Amino acid sequence: MKSVIIAGAVLLLASVTGCYYDNKQELYGSCDSSNVTFATTIEPIINANCVGCHGSSSPSAGISLVGYDQVALAANNGRLVGTMNNTGGHMLMPPGGKLDNCKLNQVNKWIRNGLPK
Ligand code: HEC
Repeated sequence: MKSVIIAGAVLLLASVTGCYYDNKQELYGSCDSSNVTFATTIEPIINANCVGCHGSSSPSAGISLVGYDQVALAANNGRLVGTMNNTGGHMLMPPGGKLDNCKLNQVNKWIRNGLPK
């Protein structure tokens, strides 16, 4: 009887941790921040989420985010992270809602690594 209870407890534990692991995989598994560069990771994020309003002709707030130089400028003056995280008195960007954690982590990593092209 005792062994049945123990076996049950082990099974329960296995299923709980298994589930936890699955969730973790789902949250972080597909988030590759191991080799973040502008061309492979950052530019697609910016193009999909920012350039619609911050394009090269008459961009919102006069801030163009087209190409490496413009995005690096925003990264260096703190506006990129400030707006994406809604910190430091910056407005939240994109205005419709924060990017997911994976993208925010990738942007942070890119900045920490010195803005690799
Ligand atoms: C739907 C249009 C839209 C999108 C998408 C958008 N922005 Fe903006 N952004 C604006 C507008 C409009 C302003 C100016 C708001 C104001 O001054 O009232 C602005 C202002 C800014 C500013 C200056 C304001 C500050 O607080 O520093 C930055 C930097 C910025 N956006 C970055 C971004 C980034 C980065 C993205 C993508 C993650 C993005 N924006 C996506 C419309 C947009």
